[in-house]
Amino acid sequence: MIEIKGIKKNFGKLEVLKGFDFSLSDGNITAVLGPNGSGKTTLIKSILGLVLPSSGEIFFDGKPIKKDWEYRRNIGYLPQIARFPENLKVRELFSLIEDIRGEEGNSEELVSMFKLESFLTKKLRQLSGGTRQKVNIVMTFMFDSPVYILDEPTTGLDPIALIRLKDFILEKKKQGKTFLITTHIMRLVEELADELIFLLEGKVYFKGTHSEMMESQNEDNLERAIAKILEKEDAKDS
Ligand SMILES: Nc1ncnc2c1ncn2[C@@H]1O[C@H](COP(=O)(O)OP(=O)(O)OP(=O)(O)O)[C@@H](O)[C@H]1O
Ligand SMILES: [Mg+2]
Repeated sequence: MIEIKGIKKNFGKLEVLKGFDFSLSDGNITAVLGPNGSGKTTLIKSILGLVLPSSGEIFFDGKPIKKDWEYRRNIGYLPQIARFPENLKVRELFSLIEDIRGEEGNSEELVSMFKLESFLTKKLRQLSGGTRQKVNIVMTFMFDSPVYILDEPTTGLDPIALIRLKDFILEKKKQGKTFLITTHIMRLVEELADELIFLLEGKVYFKGTHSEMMESQNEDNLERAIAKILEKEDAKDS
């Protein structure tokens, strides 16, 4: 569904993505991992057309995205940092998004899943960090899409919200949805991801299942396997 060929992105002299291929398997959950600043958000924004790659091509359903912005309606996106006018009430924000999209969304199930009913009449500035994240998650899933791209979806969520979100994602996967998720929470990767892509220094350092990743480093814990890779790379650099 989404295919990336030879993607490169520089910000001035900084080469963030150094040319690699990447594709999302339909109906799978793919986790993109990598240390802070490794280019995960840049990759996601490139797929959404919010960042223009310096070179390379991105295809959605076989068509280059450059020529057609309609594909974006097929992607539910949860940004890592979402900013909206602080004086809007939660309910008003949902309506605003529906107006922009020209389509009625279904927020009820998600509002009840995260017990947000009493926050609907609160202004965004009054919300705690985790509650804001729940509101952002509601907006991501309000509209039915074949693909969901979630950039650090669990930021600030309490354990109950985290379990609800995981179950919700697995339910959507059962319905055939395709996911791209970035996270630093290895439990999430172990529990959800069919495949993981590990970005390091602008390239795909590893691609495979989490068990393959652990085997490759001779570790029985994903977090330790990743820490081992990073320590080896650090040792090379110094
Ligand atoms: N608009 C921009 N202008 C200049 N540099 C940028 C811009 N956006 C990102 N960068 C730089 O590109 C690199 C990759 O950033 P990116 O946000 O993609 O990393 P990330 O893997 O998502 O990190 P994190 O785990 O912290 O979310 C960083 O060095 C960042 O400072
Ligand atoms: Mg990021």
